[in-house]
Amino acid sequence: MSGPNSDYDPVEVTPLRAEQVEAMLDSALAAIEAADGLEELKRVRIEHTGDRSPLALANREIGALPPQARKDAGMRVGKARARVAQALGRRQQSLQAEHEARILVEEAVDVTLPWDREPVGARHPLSTIQERINDVFVAMGWEVAEGPEVEAEWLNFDALNLGPDHPARTMQDTFWLEPADGGLVLRTHTSPVQARTMLERTPPIYVICPGRVYRTDELDATHTPVFHQVEGLVVDKGISMAHLKGTLDHFAQAMFGEGITTRFRPDYFPFTEPSAEVDLVCFVCRGQSPALEHCRTCKGEGWIEWGGCGIVNPRVLVACGIDPDAYSGFAFGMGIERTLMFRNGIEDMRDIVEGDIRFTLPFGLEV
Ligand code: PHE
Repeated sequence: MSGPNSDYDPVEVTPLRAEQVEAMLDSALAAIEAADGLEELKRVRIEHTGDRSPLALANREIGALPPQARKDAGMRVGKARARVAQALGRRQQSLQAEHEARILVEEAVDVTLPWDREPVGARHPLSTIQERINDVFVAMGWEVAEGPEVEAEWLNFDALNLGPDHPARTMQDTFWLEPADGGLVLRTHTSPVQARTMLERTPPIYVICPGRVYRTDELDATHTPVFHQVEGLVVDKGISMAHLKGTLDHFAQAMFGEGITTRFRPDYFPFTEPSAEVDLVCFVCRGQSPALEHCRTCKGEGWIEWGGCGIVNPRVLVACGIDPDAYSGFAFGMGIERTLMFRNGIEDMRDIVEGDIRFTLPFGLEV
């Protein structure tokens, strides 16, 4: 049997002794003063005012005291807690102010700093001229058609009346993909996109096909093994050479300015019959050169070679599932690099290829 708790002296509850409470208060105040950041203060707050802090534990002990001792102890602990809360509030305020002042300094933006040290890029003139060409044709109601750069031999050649033994195959120095008999090439022109369009759709067809093409040429001032073409194709009822001429004259003037028209010279392409070479009025001497004889651009010719064109060979229409008795068409093709060189007086094709920002920047942000 246990006896009564007669020797239990609640006044002696250690955490409630005056000097103990004083020590708790001192240590809380010291910690608050020492906290040098808001995070740190948060930790101090929990440690000295939280449920498990010495002062909170002491507060809980008060109830265990005899009534006459409670008042004193309650006042001591209550005062201590109030002083801690007050000190915390003050410290919080001053740390907050410090924090804000620091942010103001650290995150200040110096609007006088130079902003243009980081060079911005520029759109490549090949992209912008390509878009400009598309716009010329889209404005006439044409559509833009695209196709893959790795192309079936059949679409790049056979469908365009360039059978395996056709001598004109050698006109286009071709990159063949492994395996050699796999029937895949890097397209040598964008004409296969035209074949694809005819196979997929029924006339009337009005498409422009810009894109990257490949030929095994060495890179020099006028050649590059990877270049860009834009080809056009129309298939409709009653299409003639006159429509082709009118379209190319419009295209030439949209690219090079008023008065820059075209002339046709007989030529040969397997996919068009008749075929022609398209020349532009020299945009430097504006065709005056034969009389003046000093234009370096056209070498005194008055004309500059621009591309090829012709009336779509009926054999191509047949290969692509179109009835040549009902429909006829025209096609043309130009090099975009060459067009850009004429248009902007660029003398070396390598400048276009190399991607040096000093070349592209002067073209500005033309869109
Ligand atoms: N595909 C021809 C080439 O790349 C260009 C061309 C297109 C010629 C259409 C005539 C008609 O050489």
